[in-house]
Amino acid sequence: MKKLSLPVGAAPIVQLDIPADIELYIKREDLVHPSISGNKYWKLFHNINRYADRSIPDEERLIITFGGAFSNHISALASFGAMASVKTIGVIRGEELKNSSVYNPTLSVAIDNGMELHFVSREEYRDKEALYREYQTRFPAALIIPEGGSNATAVEGIGYMLGPDTKEFKYLCAAVGTGGTVAGLSRFAGDDQKVIGFGVVKDSALPARIRELGARDNLELKDAAGAGYGKINDEDVRFINAFHQRHGIPLDPVYTGKMMRKLISLADDGFFAKGSKVLAFHTGGLQGIAGANDFLRQKQRPIINYQI
Ligand SMILES: Cc1ncc(COP(=O)(O)O)c(C=O)c1O
Repeated sequence: MKKLSLPVGAAPIVQLDIPADIELYIKREDLVHPSISGNKYWKLFHNINRYADRSIPDEERLIITFGGAFSNHISALASFGAMASVKTIGVIRGEELKNSSVYNPTLSVAIDNGMELHFVSREEYRDKEALYREYQTRFPAALIIPEGGSNATAVEGIGYMLGPDTKEFKYLCAAVGTGGTVAGLSRFAGDDQKVIGFGVVKDSALPARIRELGARDNLELKDAAGAGYGKINDEDVRFINAFHQRHGIPLDPVYTGKMMRKLISLADDGFFAKGSKVLAFHTGGLQGIAGANDFLRQKQRPIINYQI
């Protein structure tokens, strides 16, 4: 089975010209791979490579994961499956989607990449332990990766987002969904660095889960900008378009756009120590733009004006 390689030097750090009392930089993890982008690559890295090392006949290999209908992680795993000729199953939240004649761009591409989709009700989806057990019993040779790819093995992979080029930054910033990414940044950051996580999901159990995943006391969680998970308001869209026009860098509407909008407003409010170097991680997610724009067009609202 094919493995993921270390794409050394594929995520350059770029300075952003912003009118604030800090030096702001972005690390382009979105560039590590065209379709397994950003933190997804690193969360999958050891999960996939250790599975590849297990002595299982290739024809029996199967990777199963879980996610919503627009999930970047589902998209990334499906793409890996196509690349490595490994069977994949995506267990998707929302039974109502089962009888759709047209899927959204995320699910259409996943199907094109050979992923088999199993739609489950929101209630079934909530009981993750039961679902994992069910799938592991049905497919004993399968690798089962949790929603968002966040497990202890994924957290180890996030360590690759840090290196000699990230040491000079006082603050390391990333968007938070299931928490694996900031848990990894927190665990592997230098002792003089502070990690700021920008939560896009309102979930009171999240801080404890992030600690369980290995985060240390150097982590502070903030709410990202915007109206909540998967909700895109016109201000988010305006910000993303203006950011792209000014810096030439595309952001996604669910994670990085909302992180960056909040980060810049915190900088304006003097949250970061004056003159300090701040590094934001671009964790990818650009595949979500097509689906977001379909939705915005239906509602006759402003759209993200670039296509990836
Ligand atoms: C683009 C993007 N940024 C940030 C995150 C948040 O990562 P995590 O779920 O590890 O908190 C995700 C989810 O994987 C994502 O797709």
